[in-house]
Amino acid sequence: MPSTRGDQFIRLDKLLSGLGYCSRSETSKLIKQGRVAVPGVIGKLKADTKVNPDGVLVDGEPLDPLPGIVVAFNKPAGYVCTTSAAEGQTVYDLLPERFSRRNPRLATVGRLDKDTSGLLLLSDDGAFVHKMTSPKHAIEKLYRATLEKPLEGHEEKLFVSGEMMLEGEAKPLRPARMRAIEERLVELVITEGRYHQVRRMFAAVGNHVLQLQRIAIGPLTLEDLPQGSHRILSKAEIATLLS
Ligand code: URA
Repeated sequence: MPSTRGDQFIRLDKLLSGLGYCSRSETSKLIKQGRVAVPGVIGKLKADTKVNPDGVLVDGEPLDPLPGIVVAFNKPAGYVCTTSAAEGQTVYDLLPERFSRRNPRLATVGRLDKDTSGLLLLSDDGAFVHKMTSPKHAIEKLYRATLEKPLEGHEEKLFVSGEMMLEGEAKPLRPARMRAIEERLVELVITEGRYHQVRRMFAAVGNHVLQLQRIAIGPLTLEDLPQGSHRILSKAEIATLLS
């Protein structure tokens, strides 16, 4: 499938199946049901008609973006970031079903653990996922954590030192900035994504994270995106994340 919109023409069945609207063989049924509209097509619309993706409507709505999509999702606690339902309810259960059928696959950009809420990105663009998750690129992730016990006062210095070791790891953590909002409420900026990193950082200083929410990734914040909802990022927003 072409990776950008424009004047590229593509078979309707290939287009719709790649975006997860239906399988290739189900395209004719969708057409018969009158659910697909392609402005400017002369004659009968068929599954193998070549169309410009820009004009196509399904159920009156423009199509989702072609490959190169980035989705921002406000993950509630209690959902896992895998496709396998064996681990419980997944973030894909809260997204349109067609998103799970896209090809290339829409994957989460890193993970939030089951009990963590907040900003999660999903993308089908391997290079984007790599850039956002690779420690080399040091993308800042901002978390808000509610702690079981009041801060003791030494945490900020240790976190920012670049010398903090987590149990079982060979390399110290990169410096992390911490800001106390209340004695049991903090904001923390980290540039890595080690396993359960924030929870383990506080466990290492004898505390316990009761609630954890990611509120920003680089310049992108949750803003007023309701919990459990998603929105598709514009090309400009994607470029800003990558810059
Ligand atoms: N740190 C954690 O402990 N959990 C997350 O989900 C993300 C960062």
